[in-house]
Amino acid sequence: MLTHEENILLTQVGRGTPCGELLRRYWHPVAAAAELTDEKPIRRVKILDEELVVYRDKKGSYGLVGEHCPHRLASLAYGRVDEEGIRCPYHGWKFDGTGKCLEQPAEPADSTFKDRIKHVAYPVEYLGGLIYAYLGPAPAPLLPRWDVLVWEHGRRWIVKESVIDCNWLQPMENSVDPSHLFWLHGDTAHLAPRVKKYAEKHEFTRFEYGIKKRRTTLPLSTAGKSEVDEHPLLFPSVLRHVAPFNQGKSVRHNLQIRVPIDDHHTQVFRANFVPSETERSPADAAVPFRFTPLKTAPREYKMDMVSAQDSMAWETQGHLTDRATEHLGVGDEGVIELRKLLKEQIERVQQGLEPIGIIRDPVKNQLIDLGVINERIGLYGNQSEHRECAAS
Ligand code: FES
Ligand SMILES: [Fe+2]
Repeated sequence: MLTHEENILLTQVGRGTPCGELLRRYWHPVAAAAELTDEKPIRRVKILDEELVVYRDKKGSYGLVGEHCPHRLASLAYGRVDEEGIRCPYHGWKFDGTGKCLEQPAEPADSTFKDRIKHVAYPVEYLGGLIYAYLGPAPAPLLPRWDVLVWEHGRRWIVKESVIDCNWLQPMENSVDPSHLFWLHGDTAHLAPRVKKYAEKHEFTRFEYGIKKRRTTLPLSTAGKSEVDEHPLLFPSVLRHVAPFNQGKSVRHNLQIRVPIDDHHTQVFRANFVPSETERSPADAAVPFRFTPLKTAPREYKMDMVSAQDSMAWETQGHLTDRATEHLGVGDEGVIELRKLLKEQIERVQQGLEPIGIIRDPVKNQLIDLGVINERIGLYGNQSEHRECAAS
């Protein structure tokens, strides 16, 4: 359990809060690129408690600026884009992707007023079908080139799920909580058969990007063999996972990216990748996108879906779960380790140090292969071996 003060410390996402400042040291996706179209090139987004708009201008460049125009605060979400940037719908002030004010149509032609206006703007980058943003201090670190976003030997697609009505840390604690698999997802046959025929050993190891979670299933009879499932939590807000695909004929690698909207809401993006001998996903190709609702109404979850089962658990813990009243046991070792890591990283930022997992070396960032293992579905520790298995 945590004290009320510790709970607040580890969960708040706003600018100026200790955790919010830590979260601003990392890139977060704000939209799937496919969500911005010629018909609708602007979207309102909220991230880390900041109201923003993401847009694609007529040259195809992306921008992320404050939603409220610095003139008299009308919403740029109803604005227009051109080759240079975004224009406010109210009096036509225009801004580029750096927040520079380019035009103020109602001001005299020789006015320098626009030069003294600097609108909120953040760097954005496209990778693997997602538009990522960095809301922290300059210089921005490199956007991590996780394997799922960069691999080309197969098919990639992006899924955006219904907004989760709870704080971001609840889904992240779930990512280091392997004991929930059998109970929460056990009726979804491909994940964990309802009749439990094995014991489990769980290990959590820190590595340079977060925490590796290793589950070893131990057969209860001498006839079976033990199997390893190891995949990482990429600090602070991503789970790298893998699951069977196409009735177990292939595997679906994925990143589950939990983006803090504000203290009580989280947006999940999933980047999926299925290796294939016949399909290719060049880095500059358009990536298909779909929206997946997890509920039919507030608190009415589609409980035949694994992700809806998870979101049920996270939301019913409360918008911001009261960690002062919980009772953690030995089986919550991963959750305890994550909280410890998070607290340490908050303190590092407060001391002016760089937190875990920040990448600044382009050589290291060509393609970060996370070496996920899931022996039950044919993924072994050796990467080349697993690609053969996955493609067969
Ligand atoms: S409120 Fe935006 S131009 Fe006036
Ligand atoms: Fe789960």
